[in-house]
This record gives sequence, C-alpha cells and structure tokens, in this order.
Amino acid sequence: MTAVKRTDIVVVGGGAAGYISAIIAARNGAGVTIADKAKRPLMKLRISGKGRCNLTNNCTDREFFDNIFRGDKFLRSAVSRFGPSEIMEFFEELGVPLKTERGRRVFPVSDKAADVAEALIGEAERCGVRTVRGEVVRILTDGGKVTGVQTDGGVIDCSAVILATGGRSYPGTGSTGDGYRIARELGHTVTKTYPALVSLRCSEDWCSEAEGLSLRNVTLTCREGKKTLFSEMGEMLFTRDGISGPLVLTLSSVIAGKDYSGLKTTIDLKPSLDRATLDKRVLRDMSAMSNREFKNSLGDLLPKSLIPVIVKLSGISPEKKVNGITADERSRLTDLLKELPLTICGDGGWNDAIVTAGGIATKEIDPKTMESKLVSGLYIAGEVLDADGATGGYNLTIAFSTGHAAGTAAAERISEGLSAEKETDNTVKSMKAIAIDGPAGAGKSSIARRVAKEFGFIYVDTGALYRAIGLSAIRSGIDVHDRAAVIGLLAGIDVDLAYVNGEQKVLLCGEDVSGEIRTEAVSMAASAVSALPEVREFLLELQRDLARRNDVVMDGRDIGTVVLPDAGCKIFLTATAEERAMRRYKELKAKGIYAVYEAVLEDLKKRDYDDSHRDIAPLKLADDGIEVDTTEIDLDEAVNRVVRIAKERLGI
Ligand code: DC
Repeated sequence: MTAVKRTDIVVVGGGAAGYISAIIAARNGAGVTIADKAKRPLMKLRISGKGRCNLTNNCTDREFFDNIFRGDKFLRSAVSRFGPSEIMEFFEELGVPLKTERGRRVFPVSDKAADVAEALIGEAERCGVRTVRGEVVRILTDGGKVTGVQTDGGVIDCSAVILATGGRSYPGTGSTGDGYRIARELGHTVTKTYPALVSLRCSEDWCSEAEGLSLRNVTLTCREGKKTLFSEMGEMLFTRDGISGPLVLTLSSVIAGKDYSGLKTTIDLKPSLDRATLDKRVLRDMSAMSNREFKNSLGDLLPKSLIPVIVKLSGISPEKKVNGITADERSRLTDLLKELPLTICGDGGWNDAIVTAGGIATKEIDPKTMESKLVSGLYIAGEVLDADGATGGYNLTIAFSTGHAAGTAAAERISEGLSAEKETDNTVKSMKAIAIDGPAGAGKSSIARRVAKEFGFIYVDTGALYRAIGLSAIRSGIDVHDRAAVIGLLAGIDVDLAYVNGEQKVLLCGEDVSGEIRTEAVSMAASAVSALPEVREFLLELQRDLARRNDVVMDGRDIGTVVLPDAGCKIFLTATAEERAMRRYKELKAKGIYAVYEAVLEDLKKRDYDDSHRDIAPLKLADDGIEVDTTEIDLDEAVNRVVRIAKERLGI
C-alpha cells in the first residue's frame, strides 16, 4: 500500500514524454501525478510505427542530428545524456527486448507497441506515480513560480509542472495541442504549427491513375527558386490525390510552413543514369522496337501504370510508330523520365501527420533542464516543443530525451527544496498550529474556519479526507466494515487537499468531491473507515505535511493527540449530545432535508461512541488540551474563547 504522498510534480499529458519524465522524477524521490484527459494513456505510442513502435534509432549522435529538422542545437544536451543507447538500455531493463531493423530502426522483438506502453505504465506504477483523469485547464503560478494546476476536476497543488501534452498530430489519440495555449498564457512564444511527416497533395490529375504505385530507387527533388530544398533517393508512392511514402514524408517536414506555390518538385525516375546515358538507352530500346506503337514501347523503362501518364505528358501520339519519333520528341521523353514534374498543393492534414512541426519556442527553455526561462518550476518536454525529426524513431527519441531531462531536473528541484526546508528546520517548527478536536456537531468547522481567518492561517478540515475514502468505498460498492476490501481500495486511490482562494477542496483521484462528501451516508461510511489503522496511516503524512508547510487551524478527532502532538494550541470542543443533535437537525431542516430529531440524535451518539471507542487514535482530550464547551454559548462567543486561548498559547 502506498501512503498518500503530497504531489510534488504534476506531469500534464500521459504520452511518451510524460511517462518517461514521471518515471525518472519518481525514481529520484519526487511525488508525481500524471494528469491526462484521455481514457487510455500512451495512445499515440501504441499506434506508432504501424503498431510496432519504432522507439528510437540505433545511430551515432552525428547521424541523429542529421535527421533533425528543427531544434537540433537545442536537443544536443538532452540527447547526449539520454540518447538512443540509453533509451534502448532503459527499455531492455524494463523487460522489453529490442531489435534493430533496416535504417537502424529499433523495435520491440515482439513487434508490439503495446508492450512498450505497458512497460512504461508498469514502471510508473512501481515507482508510485499516480494518474488522474482530467483536463488541465491552466498552470497556476504565483510570483513567477509554479504553485499548482487547475484541472476540470479541481486544483492540484504542486511545486513543479512538466508540460508534455504532445502536438497536434493524430488528434484522435487525444493530442489536440492544449499545451500550446497553456504555455502561451504563461507568456511563452509558440511558433506556428504545421503537419509534418505527412502525405502531400498534388494538383496533377494523373496522380489518381497511378494510385497505389510504389516507386523504388527514384530521386525526389524540391526546389524553391534556385535553392534545392530537398533531393534524396529512395521510395515513394502515389495516392488518390498526391504522393506519400518515406521520401515524401521527409520532404513534407522540410517544406513545412513554406508557401507551396513557390516550390518546384520533380521525380527522377532513372537516377542511376545521367541524361546522356539515358538518352542512349532510350535510343537503343527504340531501335530494337522500331515497328511498335509508342505506347507499347515503354514496358522496359517504366512501371505499367505510369506508361499512359508519361505518354500523355510527352505529347507524342500514343499510336505513333517508334521509328517515326523525332529526336526532339525523344528528348522530351528523356526530360520527363529525369524530371517528372509535380505541383504540391497541400498536405494530408493533422489526421495523417505523424508529427508536428513548430510549437513552443525552444529559445525560452533551458536545454539542459527543459525548465522554462519565464516560469520557475515549469518544465516542457516532447512534441509540444518546436523540435522534430525524420521518420525512423527520431521523434520518439526527442520525446524520451527531453522527458528524461525534465524529470531529472524537476526531481532535483524538489529535493533541493526539501533539503533547504530541512536546513532551516525551525521553519517547520516555527509553523504555528491550532489543533481543534471534538465530536461531530460541536461546532468545530465553523469555529475553526473563523479562527483561521482571524490569524490568517489555513483551515484544514481533516474529516473531509476520511469522508473522501468513505465516498470512494460507497462508489466502489464495498462494505465499509470489510477491512481487507477497504485496504484494497486504498491501493488504487489518491486523496489530496487543494486550496482555492483559501477554500479547502478535497480531491479523490483528482476529482473535486468537496460537495459530494457532505451526505449522511458518507458521514457513516467515513466513521467506519476511520477506525482502520491502515486508513489513518494512509492519511497521516498528508496532514502533517500541510502543517509543516503552513500555519494551520486543523480540526478532526486526533489532531492534538496523534497528527500534531507538538501543536502549540490544542482545543477540545464539546457540547451535549442533545444540543449537537438539535443543531444538526435544524441544519438539515434549513436545507429542506426531511429529518427526525430522535434519529439524528441516535446516529450522532453512535458516531460519538465509535469515534471515541476505537482502538486507534480514539477521540479524546489531549493531556495539554483545553476543553471548550459550546452547549450554552453562541458561535461568536465560542470563537472569541478559542482566539483568546490561541493568542495566549501561541504568544501571538
Ligand atoms: O469531522 P467529520 O464529521 O467530517 O469527520 C468524518 C468522520 O471522519 C468522523 O466520523 C470521524 C472521522 N475523523 C477521524 O477519525 N479523524 C479525524 N481527524 C477527522 C475525522
């Protein structure tokens, strides 16, 4: 069972970069929560490499950077520390055997991307990384420092955030580019984004005639004015409305963001023959078939589906006898074979793009740590950055390298923060604490809230934590008295407290359940689960941690006796059971809830009995606690008394 750890770092986005950063940070001792809106984590990784996951490229650093289109200088530091060989070692150690294929592409031996995803998820769990399903709306900062994240389910307090939301490619996987907006709101520059490693559309009608045709050993060249932007030999294919395949994907990344109308693209169908040699070859072929019609003479030179295309483009009559073809016509034919023109007019869009070109400007990010230069405690990793590379495992390498750098640095920040806290240990001791214990209905929460306001302390309602576990038990349909079942429940949940405008919110697995825990059913469930030592242990550190970091007024049942035995001021609030039942009864009536006084009294007495007779941390007056009986006094008077006692005890 993992005890509730305060979340030090929230990783926004459960993709490749997010998972690796979370694992590395957790391995380095940080409390990490991954927040992701997607139903299933690592969706894009699962479909990458046609479901086989080409997770890196087994190449040298030099070769690596030759394959990076944007961000190569920025990536140098991260890749030198956690590059292809470290990535391979990392996954092999997680029990994913790897193999290297053509083009040094690295895949799992099983050919299953899911194995890579499950290895990451399993390792994250082993390291105690928590996951929360929810959409992060914004990152919260104070004085240029990260303080938390706002999710659609509530606020998660933290000291560092790793933004790893991915780019815009494959939006079906949940990758919709939210990270750009979040970063922009914090002052970051985001360069325009374009689909990259994507098929291209061409305006030539004949492409559809060649649909499905794959060409090997051709050279694809793209020029902008006199400048050659791209010229590489390899494979490509024709689609219904354009071109695709390895050469085309690379070309698309090179020309991402360019005005396509200024580009001239050609295919050299015979790159191994120079023009003169090709001309001789054509001449030789023609003499051998001098009596054939032109359209039937190209079988040795061209794939079948390209013949009608080339015939049409050459302007030579298809039925013309080969021996009648003029030198001029032959030259036109050779021109086409060496420079078959294509007019790129668009791309396949985000659904077809493997990666995003453009994104959060890297000049505003420290390349060693991935920390934002604008917001302290904000780290940015993966595809959301303005960095991208070729197909062949380069983009996942970028995700893993930058994720690793961010996770390492964020964890370091946390441990430095903690040791700074330890060094000035009296910061811990000098925090002031007012513990308020007592039975249900004695007025603890109303009084504690007002006392906290009076002193400017935060108010911590610890009952809400037990209620969250009670609620979770009800939702899971387990019997709250079944100890094993409740213990089992703890292994799969997170409970945390967050503060929004000074108001406490209780988060159950990231979901704000502050309203839902206020029912009678939850009260009874909370009382039952609170009797289990495992539940109390589960919540203890979270409560102490809050008091270590803040001046608090904390109310509950065992605050003065167990949670904060060193609290400077301990109050025990009481009132007769009848008076407390009457208050509760009036409260319910005021809310329009049907209630019977006797039933309320009975429930209350049962809870009193259970809370004060349980074996562990029973409700009782601490040795140095002061009892305040509120039976005969009103709220103002009760607050005054507690304030007076606290001033005297705390010397404030
Ligand atoms: O204060 P409350 O009614 O919200 O608390 C709900 C239950 O949680 C209550 O029955 C006792 C338990 N509890 C506890 O055992 N220890 C605390 N510090 C706070 C609450």
